[in-house]
Amino acid sequence: MRALTSAVSLVVSLASLRASALTFTRLGACPSLGCVFPPDQASFLPGQYFDVRLEVHAPVNGTEAFNGGIPDEKFTFCIQEGKGKCEEASKFFKSTWSDLQTYNFTYYQDQFALDASSPTVVNAAARSLRGLSLKKPGTYKATLKYYNGQTTVATWFVRETPKTAAAKNVLFFIGDGMTQSMITAARVLAHKSVNGVYQSLMQMDQMEALGHQMTHSIDSYITDSANSATALYTGKKTTVDALNVYADSSPTPFDDPKFETIAELFRRKRKGPIGMVSTAHISDATPAGLCSHTRSRGEYASIVYEYLNGAQARTPEFHWPTSCEGPDVIFGGGAEQFFPGSGSYNGTDMYKAYAAAGYQLVYNNTQLQSAKNNQKTLGIFSTSVLPKWIDRNIYPKNLVGLKNSPLGDGGDALDQPGLKAMTLKAIDILQARSKKSGTGWFMMSEAASIDKMMHALDYDRALGELLELDDTIRASLAHLEKIGELKNTLVVVTADHGHGFDVFGSADTKYLASQTTDRQKRKAIGVYGDSGLSGYTMSPDNSSFIVGAQGPNFPVTWTPRYAFAAGTAAFPDHRESYAINQSGPRVAAVSPKGSTDGYVVNPVDQQAGFTLSGNLPPSEGSGVHSLTDVSVFANGPGAETFRGVYNSIDVFFKMANALGLGAH
Ligand SMILES: *[C@@H]1O[C@H](CO)[C@@H](O)[C@H](O)[C@H]1NC(C)=O
Ligand SMILES: *[C@@H]1O[C@H](CO)[C@@H](O)[C@H](O)[C@H]1NC(C)=O
Ligand SMILES: *[C@@H]1O[C@H](CO)[C@@H](O)[C@H](O)[C@H]1NC(C)=O
Ligand SMILES: *[C@@H]1O[C@H](CO)[C@@H](O)[C@H](O)[C@H]1NC(C)=O
Ligand SMILES: *[C@@H]1O[C@H](CO)[C@@H](O)[C@H](O)[C@H]1NC(C)=O
Ligand SMILES: *[C@@H]1O[C@H](CO)[C@@H](O)[C@H](O)[C@H]1NC(C)=O
Repeated sequence: MRALTSAVSLVVSLASLRASALTFTRLGACPSLGCVFPPDQASFLPGQYFDVRLEVHAPVNGTEAFNGGIPDEKFTFCIQEGKGKCEEASKFFKSTWSDLQTYNFTYYQDQFALDASSPTVVNAAARSLRGLSLKKPGTYKATLKYYNGQTTVATWFVRETPKTAAAKNVLFFIGDGMTQSMITAARVLAHKSVNGVYQSLMQMDQMEALGHQMTHSIDSYITDSANSATALYTGKKTTVDALNVYADSSPTPFDDPKFETIAELFRRKRKGPIGMVSTAHISDATPAGLCSHTRSRGEYASIVYEYLNGAQARTPEFHWPTSCEGPDVIFGGGAEQFFPGSGSYNGTDMYKAYAAAGYQLVYNNTQLQSAKNNQKTLGIFSTSVLPKWIDRNIYPKNLVGLKNSPLGDGGDALDQPGLKAMTLKAIDILQARSKKSGTGWFMMSEAASIDKMMHALDYDRALGELLELDDTIRASLAHLEKIGELKNTLVVVTADHGHGFDVFGSADTKYLASQTTDRQKRKAIGVYGDSGLSGYTMSPDNSSFIVGAQGPNFPVTWTPRYAFAAGTAAFPDHRESYAINQSGPRVAAVSPKGSTDGYVVNPVDQQAGFTLSGNLPPSEGSGVHSLTDVSVFANGPGAETFRGVYNSIDVFFKMANALGLGAH
């Protein structure tokens, strides 16, 4: 199956095979020299659009070198439906092949090759079919034949789908990076417990159905937010950094084979309004996954262009018959992609382009609250990621001097909506815009900075964001009840991946700060019986428990003497004193100017703390995602289907089925 050309010992050849096959891939989801996209085991909703791409590789050198580096250009591809005969694919799909594309690319077979700057060169020949669909549920076998007798077979599944919709609306919450251990910690922070019995609960704790989903990528078991968003919105696994495409080997990030998202499907089949709300820059992976198609999640400007105009407008040379047609609600940060400048699409004024397309524009919470409900609305409230709940609510002075005005004029964005304000307004707009036609609506609302603050090892801010998400879910359910839509709305809450965070005790911050050696400081950590009870729900005189001064469901204090002793499984060098950085998000590790040695302890971070020596590659300056399955909570029509254990891709099928998007 694989051409191992070098005459090396078995041990060495196995080692290099492992490296090339497992971590330094030539091309994800293509272990042989003939690549079929969609790859083996792909699942589709009946009628869901997708592209086909075939590649035949001829490595010029390296352990896979083959056929003198000349790729087979006369490969064939056929599709077999059920037990039928295998029909040439362009005839089967009544479509036309793209011209043959030939090019070369390089990859590293392992870290030794990378250290030696010795890439493997591969020549490739490729063809595509664009904008296809399979309407009939069943199993399809797709066979690529190349190199005179080699085959790659992909089995595709078109899933059975209900004929009618159970739900009118779907409200999909994503707590980015949120694990069950974070939810547990947030509960301890914000909910009073008497002798081990909680007196109130998180809203997530009270949902009708609980399941959990597996987050792995197509070619790595640790995922990023782009390919996990893709899985949740399309039912397809893909590669790190890819949005709603399979990553191919060609250099451009815009020609990779696409597949249709739930937002595009909702637009096409229901003709109803859709919304995206995020506390990140709105071009970030989790919102981008709703409407954009690119190999590279960092193509922010293009992503914002695509929201408005669709993939067909951006790459007219590739047939793509579906789009989000300008989401009715877009709320978040990332103004750099809107005001004219180096961050915007071709340097153009995207605010103007959205306004010209009929959007009302809002730049702060005051405008948001008074915005009309019957108009498409673009709300961009700051540059970059929105400020965190803790900074907006506990340390508002931290918003001063950020120079993050959404107008790009260097002012401060001080009048900020939180996730709750954005989500409730989005519901009103979607509701108003769907009312006449009775189409229902689809919305995704993301608490992005649970993840961003976990990366920063700023556990307090991460948990503050998680509590804001829970508060938003609670308020949304109440609001849906008030407007009479609760019984019509499937509400799903999940995460896209985890971080290895947990709490393992408490830390006496006063004792810790008073000690002088690292070993002595660690005596401040109380484990098991010495962990005590939550210091965060104490009244200001520390004598009794009360439910939050910030209103119920938030802690009374973020600076208790006995704080969480918490950590994460993977981290750069840093110091830990278990005290919140009161002046803004934490910077735990820095890469000194001029140094090529990577990240080291930030000399000004947590100076009272003890040092932890990093366990990540020195090039990683923050925590990283982890392997864990994540919880799924659901409420309303179709909620029962979310019970049990399943794959991330199944979340798409469950939502699409509840909305009847596969029905004819
Ligand atoms: C790869 O392609 C480039 C141009 O497309 C060409 O200049 C180069 O020689 C090729 N490399 C190999 C090793 O074939
Ligand atoms: C493959 O060939 C290229 C170009 O000739 C060279 O730079 C590279 O080091 C070679 N790689 C290996 C793994 O031999
Ligand atoms: C953006 O710029 C590129 C490159 O100059 C050009 O090909 C493309 O047509 C431009 N797009 C629009 C919508 O103007
Ligand atoms: C909100 O934004 C508008 C438009 O930029 C501005 O006129 C208004 O002063 C802002 N309001 C607040 C409270 O910042
Ligand atoms: C309660 O504890 C906090 C944190 O240790 C401390 O800052 C505060 O002064 C205490 N309050 C009283 C009234 O003792
Ligand atoms: C505390 O927050 C500020 C603002 O984000 C940041 O500049 C600073 O580096 C942080 N300090 C530490 C010690 O992490």
